[in-house]
Amino acid sequence: MQRAVTDRIATAADDRAELIAGLRAERATIAPKHFYDPLGCALYAAICATPEYYPTRTEAAIFAGHAADIVARVGAGRTLVDLGAGDARKAQWWIPRLRPAAYVGVDYAAAELAAALERLDGAFPDLPLSGVVTDFGRGLDLRADLPPGDVAFFYPGSSIGNFAPDDALVLLRSLRAHAAPERRASLLIGVDTHKDARRLVAAYDDALGITAAFNRNVLNNVNALLGTAFDPAAFRHVALYDESLRRIEMHLEAAHEHVVLLDGTPRRFAPGERIHTENSYKYAPQDFARLLRRAGFATATWWTDAAGDFAVFHAA
Ligand code: AVI
Repeated sequence: MQRAVTDRIATAADDRAELIAGLRAERATIAPKHFYDPLGCALYAAICATPEYYPTRTEAAIFAGHAADIVARVGAGRTLVDLGAGDARKAQWWIPRLRPAAYVGVDYAAAELAAALERLDGAFPDLPLSGVVTDFGRGLDLRADLPPGDVAFFYPGSSIGNFAPDDALVLLRSLRAHAAPERRASLLIGVDTHKDARRLVAAYDDALGITAAFNRNVLNNVNALLGTAFDPAAFRHVALYDESLRRIEMHLEAAHEHVVLLDGTPRRFAPGERIHTENSYKYAPQDFARLLRRAGFATATWWTDAAGDFAVFHAA
């Protein structure tokens, strides 16, 4: 089947300007989309296999345990839109079960998306496949890219948790906005739940140090984009849970003074100073159901594992 990849990344210059502004800020930040170069994608896959990182395997168990019910709700013959497709392995598991009319992968990581489409093409040669390379941090409008017919958005892995709730609402509303008189739009989404802080912190600070490597690797990606000379070894990985905001925060903390040139101007990181690299919000299922309703979805059904560690929602 023909494979078309549309590149919607604004410009590399916009990305660089945003990164520099974040690094110059008093509380320095790097957007989590910069984690995912090929090494970052491989480290993320390794995180998912660590004993501490329960979301991936718990979500997979919920999918397997409730597949028939989920298929009955989503329905066959839709365009399956795989948000944050990555290696598309989760969508690949669903394709024979949901029997979509077409597959559209959406991701910021262009190389990963191209490789995923290549692999899906081998596995499902008759399925029309396409990809959109974009940053959907401010919502998503795929109306020009979709074939006619109903659409099922698929957003697994609790990636929605990497948005602040207000931004998550903007994204969910933008997905809902694909519904039209001639098109139904539903959403199958995985959401990590609020739980004991020790377990959450362990999931983001595994004993093997894979999450630490994933976090530090973002500095390699910044160096590649900006031509800076951050030394990843000069930063400690920090993961903490903010109970009031119900979010895991990841930071890189300077172990000693570190000076980098940003566009020719020095930026000094004092010992102990942090760069905030990621938030991962956790929800009570009822709160996430409320968010889906505020986004305009009329129904929200969810499934959890017995311990309530993770929830899978279908919203229509
Ligand atoms: C992609 N995202 C849902 C992961 C998370 O759990 O927030 C990224 C991650 N960061 C550290 N470990 C995993």
